[in-house]
Amino acid sequence: MSKNINLQLGWPSPSLFPSSHLLDGASNVLNSSKKTAAALVYGPDAGYDPLRESIAKWLGSFYLPSGGISSERICVTNGASANLGNVLARFTEPGYTRNIWMIEPCYFLACPIFMDHGFQGLLKGVPEDEEGLDIEYLRRSLEASEKEASQQSPNIKTGDRYAKMYKHIIYGTPTFSNPSGKTMSLRRREALVRLAREYDALVITDDVYDVLRWPADEHTSSAHLGTPPPRIVDLDRTLDRGPKDEWGNAMSNGSFSKIIAPGVRVGWAEASPALTLALSTLGSNRSGGCPTQLTASFVHELLETGTLENHLTDLIIPTYRTRYHAMMKAIGEYLIPLGFAISVGRAYEESLLTYKGGTNGYTNGHTNGYTNGDANGHTKSIAVAGGYFTYLTLPDDVSSRGAELAAIALSNLHLRFAYGDMMQVNGDDGSIERGKEGYGKGIRLCWAWHPEDEIVEGIQRIAGLIQLIRS
Ligand SMILES: Cc1ncc(COP(=O)(O)O)c(C=O)c1O
Repeated sequence: MSKNINLQLGWPSPSLFPSSHLLDGASNVLNSSKKTAAALVYGPDAGYDPLRESIAKWLGSFYLPSGGISSERICVTNGASANLGNVLARFTEPGYTRNIWMIEPCYFLACPIFMDHGFQGLLKGVPEDEEGLDIEYLRRSLEASEKEASQQSPNIKTGDRYAKMYKHIIYGTPTFSNPSGKTMSLRRREALVRLAREYDALVITDDVYDVLRWPADEHTSSAHLGTPPPRIVDLDRTLDRGPKDEWGNAMSNGSFSKIIAPGVRVGWAEASPALTLALSTLGSNRSGGCPTQLTASFVHELLETGTLENHLTDLIIPTYRTRYHAMMKAIGEYLIPLGFAISVGRAYEESLLTYKGGTNGYTNGHTNGYTNGDANGHTKSIAVAGGYFTYLTLPDDVSSRGAELAAIALSNLHLRFAYGDMMQVNGDDGSIERGKEGYGKGIRLCWAWHPEDEIVEGIQRIAGLIQLIRS
């Protein structure tokens, strides 16, 4: 029997886990009585302070927002999933909060988190186009939702404890999205912030893949990458002279799951200091302290010593980059000729690197694309790839049979992949309908779990599957 190949699983492969670095981090903490005392008590509500500081510094050096990032904007979480539930508990109430707007196709595992917080039947999909979320669709839907809304105040969550309730939640992954692989353009990001302010919405973004980026071209050096797309939370700080009120309209949900390992269960939230404080004083944190205090102290050691950065630069990014290219080449060789198409939208092209020529080197600027220049100062755009996933449109003759193809692949070919219908927004008939003509005709593939030869073998099995169906 051939080996199982799982191109569905969005997990980092165990061979990439930095276990020895974690062991060093753990030793640094547990061999120091001072650090141990801080790591093994109930943690502060907002989490292990040294980690809040080191995350703020690390994010500031990556996103380069003007004014840097202060640690009062950060609280430590036990991962993006758990924190999503926390935000809902603190800032929403079904009824007052009219709808949850999920970028569609959606990260399907988020649907039950919203449902657990009372939003069953209130989830609504917002389609994507080549630039990411369809902002005009969202505007029309928010307007309609407001017209329908009957209750004007929270029913149960009242008083000082719930000083802020949002009327809408908008949820998605703007950069290297799971599942679509798309990255939202800058103008869409800005429009989204303005829309959120207009409709009293909190935009929650799972910014969990942002740092995993490389040039889409195999032969272009990573040194030519520009500044990453600003997060929605970065834009909310500065756009049109900053947030509307002390709460702001955006929260970034960060995680070490994809860049260290999911089992560490450490993540962070970034938002306005007011929102961060209210989030971190959730009842369960007040009673139990930070939900991941000991591991947070180990992760801090990895950040503080630069070990995580080296791990990403030396191992994780080059490995994913190589796997990505192996997958793309195999798709080009075996699937495109069968009628598949890659549909990950337009590459993000707002920030750029301009080569000044001579000895001046590279500088950041803002025109039309990531560029790298020749010695004469000429520039050309480069596309940026990253994250974990690519999305393929199925050939026309089988495009409505994604679920069936996935079932046959599993039973006959020992191969798993995720198919479009899995990414429907739960309970939204519109999302199901749109899927039939859009994302439902696709499949999602992940390059993070298997090494190159198994990725290629998996793609070959998909080609074999299509040939089998057609025969
Ligand atoms: C978009 C998105 N959000 C959240 C998660 C899970 O994050 P965590 O492990 O921090 O709970 C994943 C993992 O697949 C994801 O793709």
